[in-house]
Amino acid sequence: MEKQSLLYTGKAKSVYETEDADHLILVFRDDTSAFDGKKVEQLARKGKVNNRFNAFIMQKLQEAGIETHFEKLLSSNEVLVKRLKMIPVECVIRNYAAGSLCRRLGIEEGTALTPPTFELFYKDDALGDPMVNESLSVTMGWATEDQLKQMKALTYQVNEVLSKLFDAGNMLLVDFKLEFGVFHDRVILGDEFSPDGCRLWDKDTKKKLDKDRFRQGLGGVVEAYEEVSLRLGVDLSDI
Ligand code: C5P
Repeated sequence: MEKQSLLYTGKAKSVYETEDADHLILVFRDDTSAFDGKKVEQLARKGKVNNRFNAFIMQKLQEAGIETHFEKLLSSNEVLVKRLKMIPVECVIRNYAAGSLCRRLGIEEGTALTPPTFELFYKDDALGDPMVNESLSVTMGWATEDQLKQMKALTYQVNEVLSKLFDAGNMLLVDFKLEFGVFHDRVILGDEFSPDGCRLWDKDTKKKLDKDRFRQGLGGVVEAYEEVSLRLGVDLSDI
C-alpha cells in the first residue's frame, strides 16, 4: 500500500492516508521530544527501532486477545494500521512510582504501587496534557462512560501481558501510556507502544532503559531501546 496525502505530523510519527478509507500509514521518525515538545532532538535509528519494537508488542497483545490497530510492517520505518477515530484521553497505569506521580505526591521513585494505579490525561500539548477523570471526560464529550470502562479494562489487560513479557527479559514495567480509538464501533488500541511511552528498568540494577534517558540527559537513549528489544528477542539485525 502506498502513502497518499499527509494527514498529521505528530512529535515522533507522521500519519498518511492510503487509497483505502479504513487504513493509514504511520511513519516513525527519529525525532525525540520531551516536556511537551520543548526539548527536541534527532536520535539516529530511533524511528526504525521503535517501529520494529512496536510491531512486536502489538502482535504479542493481539495474540493475547487484545485488538490493536496494527496490520503489518511496510518498511523499516513504516507500518500499516487501521484508521481509528482517536479518543483524546491517554490511559496510564503505574506499577512503581516515577515521573509526574512523584512530583505530584512527593512519593519516592521506585515505590511499589499495589494495586497498580490507573490515571487519565487529556491529550492537549498546549495545556500540557492535564490529568483528568472519567466524569470530566464524559462531560467534555471526549469519551462515553462505556468507552472509558473498556479503555480501563484493556489497559489493565495490557499491563498483565506486558509486565510478564518484560519480566522475562529481566525488566520492570514501571508505567506506560496507551491511546485508544474507535474502529467501526469497537474500542481498540492505537498509537504505539515503545520505550518512548513507557518506563522500563533493569530489575537488578534499576538502570533506566526508556525515554527518561532522554528527559534526564543520561545519554545512550537508542542503545537502551535496542537493549530492550534484544532482551525480548526482537530482531533488529537488518535495520
Ligand atoms: O510523566 P508521567 O509520569 O505522568 O508519565 C507516565 C507514563 O506515561 C510514562 O511512561 C511516560 O513515558 C508516558 N507518557 C507518554 N506521553 C505523555 C505523557 C506520559 O508517553 N504525553
